[in-house]
Amino acid sequence: MPKKRIMVMTGGGDCPGLNAVIRAIVRRTEQEKDWEVLGSIEAFNGLLRDPMEVVLLDAKTVSGIHIRGGTIIKTTNRGGPFHWPVKKADGTYDYVDRVDDLKERLDKLGVEAVISIGGEGSMSIAQQLYERGINIVGVPKTIDNDLSSTDVTFGFETAVQIATEAVDRLVTTAASHNRLMILEVMGRDAGWIALSSAVAGGAHVALIPEINYDINIIAQHINEKVENGRGFAIVVIAEGAKGKDGDLVYRDSNMPGYQNKILGGVGHRLLEELSGKIDVDARVMILGHLQRGGSPIAYDRILATQFGVKSVELVLEGNFGQMVSSQKPDIVSVPIASAIEEYNHVKLNSALVHTARGVGICLGDQL
Ligand code: F6P
Repeated sequence: MPKKRIMVMTGGGDCPGLNAVIRAIVRRTEQEKDWEVLGSIEAFNGLLRDPMEVVLLDAKTVSGIHIRGGTIIKTTNRGGPFHWPVKKADGTYDYVDRVDDLKERLDKLGVEAVISIGGEGSMSIAQQLYERGINIVGVPKTIDNDLSSTDVTFGFETAVQIATEAVDRLVTTAASHNRLMILEVMGRDAGWIALSSAVAGGAHVALIPEINYDINIIAQHINEKVENGRGFAIVVIAEGAKGKDGDLVYRDSNMPGYQNKILGGVGHRLLEELSGKIDVDARVMILGHLQRGGSPIAYDRILATQFGVKSVELVLEGNFGQMVSSQKPDIVSVPIASAIEEYNHVKLNSALVHTARGVGICLGDQL
C-alpha cells in the first residue's frame, strides 16, 4: 500500500523557526506508519513548475534543522496558484489561476492534505484553496506578530531579540559621539517589534504605525535628551510609521509578480523631517533582514515545534480549514477564515504601551 502523503510548504517572508516546524511535522508524521511528508519548494511554486520541484522529507532530511534559520524547502512572495506569472511576447506578464492544475498535481502525487506555513497572505491563499476543495491546514508564521487569532507567532521573539541587541549597540556609539541614532525596524503595519525592542533596549522614542507622530513633539523630546549637545538619543521607528499628514514609505521591487508593497526608508524620512528642529548630529540605521536571519531563540523553537506537531494532528483528525494557534497555555486551532479577519495592531490601551509611557519613552503623540 502506498503511504498517504502530507505536502508541506513555506510561503511569504522567511522567519526564524520555519525549519523547527518542518522537523516537527516530519517527526510527528513518522509516528504514523502509513503516512509520509513531501515538501514543495518555494511554496506552491514547486508543485506548479515543470518538472515539479517536490522533495521527500524524512527523519534524516530534517535532522538538526530546528536550530537553523531560513527554510530548507525555500519560500517566496511571488507566484502561487492564484497569481501565476505567464510572460507575454512583449516581455510583460499576465497572471493566471492554476488551482485546478494544482489539484490534479496533488492527486497524482497521492497527497491527502497540505500544511501551509505562512503569514497573513499565505493564510488567505490557504482559505481560498480550502474553499476550492483542497484539504489544508495553516501554520502561522511572521516576525511581525500581526495575526490576531494567536497569542504570538514564532519568529517574533527572535526578531525582538535582534532588534534589542541593535539598540544596545547603538547606545554605546551614540553615547560616545553625543549623537541621535535612528533605528528602523520591520513589522509592516504593526508596531510590535519597534515598541518591544524600544522597551527592552531603553530607547528614548518609539514610533509605531498605530500612532501618527507629531514631529515637533519628537524634536522637543530629543532636544531635552541631548541638552547642550552633551547627551545622546535613540529612536526606534517601525517601517510602517508615519506622521500626522504623512504617507507610508515604500521601495520598489525589481521582480515581477510581487504580491506585497515593500516598506522601507522611513528612518531617513524622519531625519529629513527633524532637520532644522534638532540640535544634534544624527545617523540612520535600517536593521532590515538581519531581523529574519539566523538561528531562532529557544522560545521560538519550542513554539514552532508545538505548531508543527499540532498541524499533523489536525490532518490526522481530518480537521481542515483550520490554523494552529497559541492560546496560552494551550495550542489549539481556529478556522483560517476567522484568523485572517482581524489584523493584530498594538492596542493603545495595552500594558506594553502603558509600560513604554511609564518609563518615559516618547511615542510621538505626547511628551
Ligand atoms: O512580514 C515580514 C517582513 O519581514 C516585514 O516585516 C517586511 O515588511 C517584509 O517582510 C519584507 O519583505 P521582503 O523580504 O520581501 O523584503
